[in-house]
Amino acid sequence: MKTLFFGAASLDGYLADKNNSLDWLFQFGEPKDQYIEKFLDTIGALAMGSTTYQWMCDNLPQFGEGNWPYKVPAFVFTSRELKKYRDADITFVKGDVKPVHEQMMKVANGKDIWIVGGGELVGKFYDANLLDQLIIQIVSVTLGGGPALFPRHTKKPLKLESVKRIDQEFVELIYSVR
Ligand SMILES: NC(=O)c1ccc[n+]([C@@H]2O[C@H](COP(=O)([O-])OP(=O)(O)OC[C@H]3O[C@@H](n4cnc5c(N)ncnc54)[C@H](OP(=O)(O)O)[C@@H]3O)[C@@H](O)[C@H]2O)c1
Repeated sequence: MKTLFFGAASLDGYLADKNNSLDWLFQFGEPKDQYIEKFLDTIGALAMGSTTYQWMCDNLPQFGEGNWPYKVPAFVFTSRELKKYRDADITFVKGDVKPVHEQMMKVANGKDIWIVGGGELVGKFYDANLLDQLIIQIVSVTLGGGPALFPRHTKKPLKLESVKRIDQEFVELIYSVR
């Protein structure tokens, strides 16, 4: 049962552009061979920050009312009152990531825990020694700025577990946190 980040980053290390847009990523469409679906099958719970959640609400109308894309319990970090998708298993949480991680472990049914992002939230799990792995799809695009993939100075080097080409535009890097 691992706690991991899985997500795409530009070649220069950003999760979104300076306007929080993901157009640079979605221009390529979904990776082949049910890459995302196979990953989602391994996940028992997920967590994200409110910017990421808000981006989904605002930009993915196909995920609108009743169409929340995830089947597993989702935890959204926010200090505000946010609108909740109807029929979605979403819990709004705030503050320390440790008690939230304990809650996630209880509901994940032995499957992995996905920290969706952004990078600062992934960093909070890393700071608390709760992050086991980073699965990053490096996209063949540079952005010149935006929210950083993983804004931390790693205390020890990450361990490179695998490098794999995915389609024409992505390289998947898997790192474990020692
Ligand atoms: N390329 C990818 O795979 C990928 C993956 C994930 C995200 N993204 C994109 O990257 C961008 C990330 O945005 P972001 O860096 O702003 O990060 P974010 O983590 O999505 O949102 C940050 C916000 O979440 C809330 N929050 C975070 N931790 C909290 C805590 N412990 N307690 C209470 N509230 C907390 C705070 O807002 P409030 O308290 O004001 O609500 C904070 O400003 C988004 O545009 C997203 O769409 C891309």
